[in-house]
Amino acid sequence: MQAAAIAQPNIALVKYWGKRDTRQNLPAVGSISVTLHGLETEMHVRLTTDAKNDALTVNGKSAETMLPRISKALDTILGADRKYAMVTSRSNFPIAAGLASSASAFAALTVAAAAANGATHSPELLARLAGGASGSAARSIFGGFVELKKGGDAIEVSQLATKEDWPLAVMVAVTASGPKSIGSTEAMEISRKTSPFYSAWVDRQSDDLDRARAAIREKDFRALAAVSEHSCLKMHSIMWASRPPLVYWNAATLRCMETIRALQASGVAVFFTIDAGPQLKAVCDRDVADVVYAALQSTEGVVQVLRSGLGGGARRIGSD
Ligand code: DP6
Repeated sequence: MQAAAIAQPNIALVKYWGKRDTRQNLPAVGSISVTLHGLETEMHVRLTTDAKNDALTVNGKSAETMLPRISKALDTILGADRKYAMVTSRSNFPIAAGLASSASAFAALTVAAAAANGATHSPELLARLAGGASGSAARSIFGGFVELKKGGDAIEVSQLATKEDWPLAVMVAVTASGPKSIGSTEAMEISRKTSPFYSAWVDRQSDDLDRARAAIREKDFRALAAVSEHSCLKMHSIMWASRPPLVYWNAATLRCMETIRALQASGVAVFFTIDAGPQLKAVCDRDVADVVYAALQSTEGVVQVLRSGLGGGARRIGSD
């Protein structure tokens, strides 16, 4: 009873920040993302009756601190009367640094664990199960442009457009590779409880979602850029106005933003977005990818630029 799966992280253009129900992990707002290509988490799950606990290895090392969250996700995916799971995970990009590694990890875990258990779930059900563990993971079940709806009693995800429909490029400017100071789950609750901007954010989200959906449908880069940067900066404003304040940026994050502004001023089709970490993600037309890559690479404080484009959804690999 074992199976393996691969999933890619996704980058939200209209952000998910805040929960309506923490127990079921239901989002307070809808969100729209793009699934990346080339940055991958591979997850192997072996179910066994011969163990007394679950076990987790991440990039070759035992990862005790992450195990409770994985075990909880497995309870949701497989049911509480499940077998113990030996889980092995490997990512080819920095984890826990605002690169949505939890999204690719829980998406891959869901697909691998369900397959190891012999289940053949629909992508919609897999997304619901992955989203119970991490909201953004629900989006990585699908490829291309993906919407996570605010929904009713359960998580609902759908694909808005495929990667072939609008094959944009994405550059990730890594400005620090250590783990982030505070995880999204905890930070969202701090914002919900303390930020004076939180309720305005929830109230106005449907306008941004409408604008983003229309921009994707019409392949209107300028419109997508405007709504994405606005959503990103609004989310960070909520964080900055939380108590304690949540400031994920460093000096290089701001320098990268200036780099993007300079490119835009010279007519390059590019925009930025930043998640709960100091990395800046630049989304651009494929024909300007080299220019954007070079500009970010030569920005002071940038450790590394990862080149990506839009990828497919989570999928099972091998036959083990
Ligand atoms: C800033 O999906 O990591 O990346 O549901 O608590 O696991 P949990 O949160 P998570 O939050 C992602 C927040 C974000 C914005 C986004 O991806 O939409």
